[in-house]
Amino acid sequence: MTPAKENDHKGNNHGSEATAAVGQTTGRPVSGNVPPPQAERIGVLALDQTQMEEVRQILDLNDATRRTLSLFDGGLQTLSSVLDRNQFDLLVIHSVCQTETDLARLEQVLSDRGALPVVLLSSNVEPGFLIAAMRTGVRDVLKLPVSPEALRDAVNHIEHQVVHVPTPQEKRKVVAFMAGKGGSGSTFLATNLGYALGKAGAKTALIDLNLQFGDAALFVTDRMPQSNLADVVSDNMARLDGAFLQASMCEVLPTYSVLAAPEDLERAAQVRPDQVDVLIRLAAHRYEFVILDMGRSLDAVSVKALDCADYIYLVMQQTLPFIRDAKRSYEALRGLGYGTDRLRIVVNRYQKGGEITNEDIELAVGAKVWTTVPNSYAAVSAAVNQGMPLAAFAPRDPVAKALDGMAIELLERQEAKKHSWLSGLWHHH
Ligand SMILES: Nc1ncnc2c1ncn2[C@@H]1O[C@H](COP(=O)(O)OP(=O)(O)O)[C@@H](O)[C@H]1O
Ligand SMILES: [Mg+2]
Repeated sequence: MTPAKENDHKGNNHGSEATAAVGQTTGRPVSGNVPPPQAERIGVLALDQTQMEEVRQILDLNDATRRTLSLFDGGLQTLSSVLDRNQFDLLVIHSVCQTETDLARLEQVLSDRGALPVVLLSSNVEPGFLIAAMRTGVRDVLKLPVSPEALRDAVNHIEHQVVHVPTPQEKRKVVAFMAGKGGSGSTFLATNLGYALGKAGAKTALIDLNLQFGDAALFVTDRMPQSNLADVVSDNMARLDGAFLQASMCEVLPTYSVLAAPEDLERAAQVRPDQVDVLIRLAAHRYEFVILDMGRSLDAVSVKALDCADYIYLVMQQTLPFIRDAKRSYEALRGLGYGTDRLRIVVNRYQKGGEITNEDIELAVGAKVWTTVPNSYAAVSAAVNQGMPLAAFAPRDPVAKALDGMAIELLERQEAKKHSWLSGLWHHH
């Protein structure tokens, strides 16, 4: 059922099909040998010329950045055609998106245009609207009349964020596992998903980035790790290459190895974000899949690692404390600029007919549940206690099957790459 939207935009000029670019200003070129920074292309959508002028004056004052400002009037219904004809790095919307119905329309227009950051200027700042805006992926909502500082801050903040260029579907391979709360099962799922991928023939590495309290290796091997992440990055950064990395890991299968976390806190504290960045890039080059066990912390090192992740699986359970923490973590991850297309919520130890349903979870967290993994206490604890992958111990267990399903979903993308001539055929029509 499609709700009638014709009359939602009070005061909008429905007749105006064409968008009017009324002003265009470009920042001055940078002189000297310093390569000029990428100019930020800002699109401004407003109701009328007065509003456009207001935004132009606020953003134009700042000549420290190279900015291109393109202004469009005509309201939300013109946005789609504006975006068809223009490439923006950031969109500022003045007044024309102030209700949840407007947000639904905005979401529709933005849905297939990647993660275009949006700042809304709105006189409606009711909590319900703000939450809906956050769910739509809007970065910031500023109350009208807008303070020039607030708008400049919001735009500067987005400009200085690391721009994540989305990896093409078939090349997505770095998968991070996070938990909002301890004991959710993120390490168990990460390590056993790695096993499922390796078992299916994909060369897979798991990196334990839970630097302080990492225990990932214990979940899939009973051998003591001979070396760990701190050895690899701190002592040997200079000789870090694929072969050395492979030799530093615990081999679980010929196609699946685990790099253990540092064994003492002091060495863990010395690991730097740039080292982790190099390590993950190297692993991504060398392996078909790289799984990161992140634990719960969001610090400089883990944010660097998450920046490298194509998918972030947020693991939670079906009880209130987990939901509360999942919501916090989800919002924190969104706040860090990770788009909803990269975030995947996994409800672990899921019980059908439980007191709290997936719908309840989705409502509370503000995001869809990506998948569920059943509860299987006896088999899982037996496998974990023996340091064995669950699938090696109980391949028919429903949890092992769920993990196979998660592996298959990731593998299918790589298959698509291998048979791209075929998918080329399918995409003709
Ligand atoms: N689907 C499951 N069914 C039953 N027990 C599970 C399941 N997933 C995890 N567990 C149990 O929960 C414990 C804690 O999991 P862990 O992966 O260490 O959590 P986290 O890394 O999020 O702190 C594991 O030792 C395992 O025994
Ligand atoms: Mg853990």
